[in-house]
Amino acid sequence: MRQAQSDPTDSAAAAVSLPLTEALRTTGAVRDFSDQPVDDTVVARVLDTARFAPSGGNAQAWRVVVLKDPAKRRHVRELYLRGWRDYMAMLAAGLQPWAPTNDREAEARALAEPPPSTGPGFAERFDQVPVLLALFADLSLLAAVDRDTPRYSFAGGASIYPFAWSIVLAARDEGLGGVITTMPIRAEAEVKALLRAPDPLALAAVIALGYPVHQPRRLSRAPVSSFATVDTVDGPAFG
Ligand SMILES: Cc1cc2nc3c(=O)[nH]c(=O)nc-3n(C[C@H](O)[C@H](O)[C@H](O)COP(=O)(O)O)c2cc1C
Repeated sequence: MRQAQSDPTDSAAAAVSLPLTEALRTTGAVRDFSDQPVDDTVVARVLDTARFAPSGGNAQAWRVVVLKDPAKRRHVRELYLRGWRDYMAMLAAGLQPWAPTNDREAEARALAEPPPSTGPGFAERFDQVPVLLALFADLSLLAAVDRDTPRYSFAGGASIYPFAWSIVLAARDEGLGGVITTMPIRAEAEVKALLRAPDPLALAAVIALGYPVHQPRRLSRAPVSSFATVDTVDGPAFG
């Protein structure tokens, strides 16, 4: 995979290939972007590579809206910020934000507190991100094999997020960095209205991309032995 070298302003020209394993081990979330605009041809190449992602039944149930209109971008930022404040409030209350198993009353209490103050950061600058890609899933095409279980359903998303991650990896190969965001989904109805996304489209993410200000750093991830076991979930650690 190609990786930007040194000066991000020269990143597109200075791209060099990264071995796949190294790319998989070092592609972290990037939220700080240089002012360098990203050419549409680069974004088109990223999507052209990402479209080879797998999906259940090869349904390729994704739709992408490239957000260019400044007013729409500002609107999405406002919606993002709303979710971000709720996220921070739940974190401050010691909750795993929006975990399906959460006590909803504890969540409501957390959200009733004044939001913790956060400095201007990624959320506040969301509209300034060089590339914003709204990713929708066409629910009529998803093989959501767990849709009839009483628990929270997530198998449908498994047909969309490999594509989202392939966008981030393909973007890295172009010298870009980025992050998958799901915060705007808290305001899905408003995002759908804003972007004229009809049913049965569902908002899966808004992906932020741009030329990174910082090079990737060492990622913090739990070791294999902490999540892999042999034969049963309570079996001996694997790896
Ligand atoms: C499904 C998904 C949703 C995410 N949503 C957001 C988000 O809304 N906002 C954000 O800033 N980062 C979001 N992230 C990025 C995660 O915070 C990030 O991958 C994780 O904290 C690891 O960070 P690192 O790569 O810097 O180690 C999301 C990542 C995934 C895979």
